[in-house]
Amino acid sequence: MRLIITGSPGTGKTTLAKSLGEKLNLTVLNEKDFALKNGIGSFNEENELEIPIKEFEEKANAFLKETDDVLFEGHVVCEAKLHVDKAILIRVDPEELEMRLENRGYSMEKMMDNVFCEGIDYCKKQVIKNYPIDKIIEVTSKASISGTLKAVLASLGK
Ligand SMILES: Nc1ncnc2c1ncn2[C@@H]1O[C@H](COP(=O)(O)OP(=O)(O)OP(=O)(O)O)[C@@H](O)[C@H]1O
Ligand SMILES: [Mg+2]
Repeated sequence: MRLIITGSPGTGKTTLAKSLGEKLNLTVLNEKDFALKNGIGSFNEENELEIPIKEFEEKANAFLKETDDVLFEGHVVCEAKLHVDKAILIRVDPEELEMRLENRGYSMEKMMDNVFCEGIDYCKKQVIKNYPIDKIIEVTSKASISGTLKAVLASLGK
């Protein structure tokens, strides 16, 4: 099985990917790690890796063609058209997201950017644009990580 997990920054993609990967025996790949390993993108003045979508898409799809049982996780994957069986989109209530990002020590500006991104359904709109509707699983983050995992497994029929 080939999957993506995506969502606004801080929605719990990495956390969910780790537990889902363990449960389903999938190799979990973070999009930034994949980009760095494959010479995709460059760092901006804020020292953040900027990933060109088309190049990422081509290299990730070439990789997916050769590799099964893999899970890509990250925010950029919502903007790419990757050849996967399911696209999992995590949603978090903006107020809950604000609290989580505050706990992570985010600056006010970065926190507001990400809460806004969730509030306007940015990632959902991208997922709908880039993935067939029958492949999209939208899951609202539960109070616990195991609760979210359970909901995703049920949607996958596992
Ligand atoms: N279901 C959940 N309930 C409560 N807290 C959670 C849940 N899932 C993740 N978290 C917490 O939310 C924070 C963000 O999680 P995580 O790093 O997995 O998000 P992310 O979407 O990968 O973020 P980024 O976009 O920065 O990579 C962490 O502190 C994590 O412990
Ligand atoms: Mg992450």
